[in-house]
Amino acid sequence: ITDPRAELKRKAAIEAADMVKEGMVVGLGSGSTSAFMIEELGRRWAEGLRFCAIPTSERSAEQARSHGIRLVTFATHPQIDIDIDGADEVERGTLNLIKGLGGALFREKIVAAASRRFVVVVDDSKLVDRLGVAVPVPVEVANFGWNSTARQLEALGAKVTQRLDRSGNVFVTDGGNMILDCHFGEIADSDTLQNQLDRVVGVIETGLFIGRTSEVIVATADGLQRLHA
Ligand code: A5P
Repeated sequence: ITDPRAELKRKAAIEAADMVKEGMVVGLGSGSTSAFMIEELGRRWAEGLRFCAIPTSERSAEQARSHGIRLVTFATHPQIDIDIDGADEVERGTLNLIKGLGGALFREKIVAAASRRFVVVVDDSKLVDRLGVAVPVPVEVANFGWNSTARQLEALGAKVTQRLDRSGNVFVTDGGNMILDCHFGEIADSDTLQNQLDRVVGVIETGLFIGRTSEVIVATADGLQRLHA
């Protein structure tokens, strides 16, 4: 039985993959929607399309490699033409995002920041009027002193939970750090919150993506919509 949400994610992902043209440097996002995008790019690679890519997680790197897609690094390719990634929430009015429920937010933000165009692919369940209603803000923090960092995050109004993996062990990011999921509830001013979080010592990066989105491809039961910043 096909999951209807997965089917929508797949449609949005294929539409985004179509934006990748010969010779481009491509940012490969992480998560289930991005996995559909990488699969589609793998198909196009097999048909002869040539580009190179910088992945946002070890998992996406592994998937891309399995298709033979050429992976490069910032050392030789500091400027990315297009970065395609999923999101956990997209704010309708601003196209600001919460990302990182999959744990790859730090590399995802580095790649997004280095890209000329940042294209987000979601199904319509991810669209919200205000960020933070349904999901926490994932915050990657240094392992050293994390209890102290958590207290400072609580002082900003968050209910903080340490991310665990499926086996109940502390979740470890690709960078070897941990994630504190910060439940703020509805976020009235995500820009101010991002600045406050950035000032907390111990915070490495947050899952708030403010003012970075070029375009969102949204799959709905009635077809695809494109939202532009
Ligand atoms: C990974 O860290 C996240 O930022 C993902 O992009 C986000 O969780 C979207 O995931 P799905 O495509 O699996 O919904």
